Amino acid sequence: MDPLLPRAVDDYLDELVTAQLYDPVVMEMERRASATGFPIVGRAAGRYLELTTHMAGARRVVELGSGYGYSSFWFARGVGEGGEVIGIDHDPQNAHLAESYLRRAGMWERCATRTGDALEQLAAIEGTIDLVFCDIDKDGYPAAWEAVADRLEVGGLFVCDNALWYGRVAGLAPTDQDAEVAAAQAAVAPAVAAMTREVVNDPRYLTSVVPIHDGLLVAQRIG
Ligand SMILES: C[S@@+](CC[C@H](N)C(=O)[O-])C[C@H]1O[C@@H](n2cnc3c(N)ncnc32)[C@H](O)[C@@H]1O
Repeated sequence: MDPLLPRAVDDYLDELVTAQLYDPVVMEMERRASATGFPIVGRAAGRYLELTTHMAGARRVVELGSGYGYSSFWFARGVGEGGEVIGIDHDPQNAHLAESYLRRAGMWERCATRTGDALEQLAAIEGTIDLVFCDIDKDGYPAAWEAVADRLEVGGLFVCDNALWYGRVAGLAPTDQDAEVAAAQAAVAPAVAAMTREVVNDPRYLTSVVPIHDGLLVAQRIG
């Protein structure tokens, strides 16, 4: 599927990351995504997530929808040694794959996985969370925000992938999709848009949507 930005620009952003950091395990995870059509955040967004985590000094990250650990890799770099990344996914196979990849990438000591519904697992996690990353099924976005909004403390970050949802939240529709995919995407666009409006209109949060990958919403609790 076509990226939001022109393909050449998207490739350029990815290439800039590779020039800074070459990791064979990351490449392997990316090859899996290409081969299976699994929707990872990709390299440019991954690096941005690492940077955001690092800039905020976040030491404890919870991922809602962590897949097989690709985004976890970047968060694990961001939290640094002694930090913690808890990845939640309802597919147990993903947890196994994540452990295997993250071990080989030297990041497993900072990571843990939980299998189950993202919001149930989030509710079961005790203590302060510095950053919540949301990348679950898009119809679950409004409920995810509802669960996170009060949970984060001042300084905490809510980061959400696919905030631009292939341009659909702005009335665009990709032209290179089959009808079934297009209908499924269109059906959940209102949920993504509704969540985004809720976040940007919440006076406790300072929010921006960055058009990397499919749009990353970044919101910091300030009040
Ligand atoms: C877009 S993929 C995550 C990709 C991952 N963040 C990355 O970039 O590497 C979404 C994942 O969320 C999981 N998922 C979707 N809805 C979920 C839910 N309500 N609870 C738990 N996991 C969920 C799916 O199994 C899938 O692995």
